[in-house]
Amino acid sequence: MGVREELAEQGFAYAKAVFRPSELAGASAEFDTLIAAWSADDLDDPDYWSCPVDGTEEHSLYRIHRLESKTDWPRKLTCGPRFRELLAEVFRVPVKLTQCALTIKMPDAGVRVPWHRDPVEVAPGAVYNFSLYLDDSTPRNGCLYVLPGSHLSGDEMMTTMPAEAVPVPARAGDVVIHDVRVHHGSPQSKSHARRRAMVLEFRPDE
Ligand code: NI
Repeated sequence: MGVREELAEQGFAYAKAVFRPSELAGASAEFDTLIAAWSADDLDDPDYWSCPVDGTEEHSLYRIHRLESKTDWPRKLTCGPRFRELLAEVFRVPVKLTQCALTIKMPDAGVRVPWHRDPVEVAPGAVYNFSLYLDDSTPRNGCLYVLPGSHLSGDEMMTTMPAEAVPVPARAGDVVIHDVRVHHGSPQSKSHARRRAMVLEFRPDE
């Protein structure tokens, strides 16, 4: 089954090893510099989103919003030929980037992302989120979980992750694509290492 068919049926799909580790080294280092700026505690930037880790008062960084305004790496990485091919395969029409962020699970403080559907009011099969992994992502470090096929269900959804949700582990360099309508979330990370993914929302450019 091809990526388009998987997206249509399941609401998510993998593209393995879209980037080699060497192609991500520069971006990885620069993203760590952005994260370190938040950790230095004197940052007053509304694009850095943090919240308390479950069961504690400790605030932890989970998202750097508008990443494209802080570094040129989103543009550089999405211009690569393999990524362009993937976009063409998924959409088959010209596209535009409508969201770009770095999602982060901090070491020993990787916050849970509540079960949700992305707040984009569109039909299934219209708008997709591409997660480009900088680090391996596993159930232990709070990988993405999705409910297969839920992009086709109506507006009702569970408020907590259902038992039928499946983990979507990934390796650094993989891209995971999901329909913004699919139900998804991620648990708290219990890892001592950080886990980062660059998330990009694309839609047809009409
Ligand atoms: Ni989401």
